[in-house]
Amino acid sequence: MNKKAFIFDLDGVIVDTAKYHYLAWQKLAQELGIEFTPEHNEELKGVSRVRSLDIILELGKIEASQEDKNKWLFQKNEDYLSYLVDIDQSEILPGVYPVLKYLKENGQAIALGSASKNARPILEKTGIISYFDAIVDGNDVSNAKPDPEVFLNAAKLLGVNPENSIVFEDSVAGIQAANTANMISVGIGEEEILCESQFIFKDFTFIDEHFIDALIKN
Ligand code: BG6
Ligand code: MG
Repeated sequence: MNKKAFIFDLDGVIVDTAKYHYLAWQKLAQELGIEFTPEHNEELKGVSRVRSLDIILELGKIEASQEDKNKWLFQKNEDYLSYLVDIDQSEILPGVYPVLKYLKENGQAIALGSASKNARPILEKTGIISYFDAIVDGNDVSNAKPDPEVFLNAAKLLGVNPENSIVFEDSVAGIQAANTANMISVGIGEEEILCESQFIFKDFTFIDEHFIDALIKN
């Protein structure tokens, strides 16, 4: 049997949490008097919390002390977590669950490859943590996407070569990371934004069993 590694990003791929990151960053930006649009937000997707704050401060041309940065990072995360208090399986994006189920039924290896340090509680609360044979998140890596470290670690944990690994991603940084890792990149989102991905789908409802079968066989 062909065994491939299917590596999923979390925010904006498995769960609809990208919008909460955006709201929390937008609130902070507003407090700091920085204009922060959905276009700016694309640059933050897939990127670590620390780097995200730096991008926002660069936008506002603000130089801050480490103490202030730590305060804002804490505040942003508290705001983000306040949105997650009541999350449950309804937060799983359409079409994701059937794909996870199909991969499991077909003996494929599944990993999480996320920049988030909040990944585990989200997988637990949404009830899908048992689908994952390996979890690599923001607590495990020192280099953030577009560095391929997170995906390479995930494939290694699954015992699968990068060339036999498939990454599902909604961020430009994540697609670049997958491509650099020599993995198959599948973009989830808008074609104009994720133009570097090898395959692109608007969401998981457009991914059918034939597509998965072809990934497993090739
Ligand atoms: C990524 C998100 O998955 O995780 C980013 O796309 C986020 O928006 C990053 O900043 C880090 O997440 P967290 O939960 O550790 O702040
Ligand atoms: Mg994402």
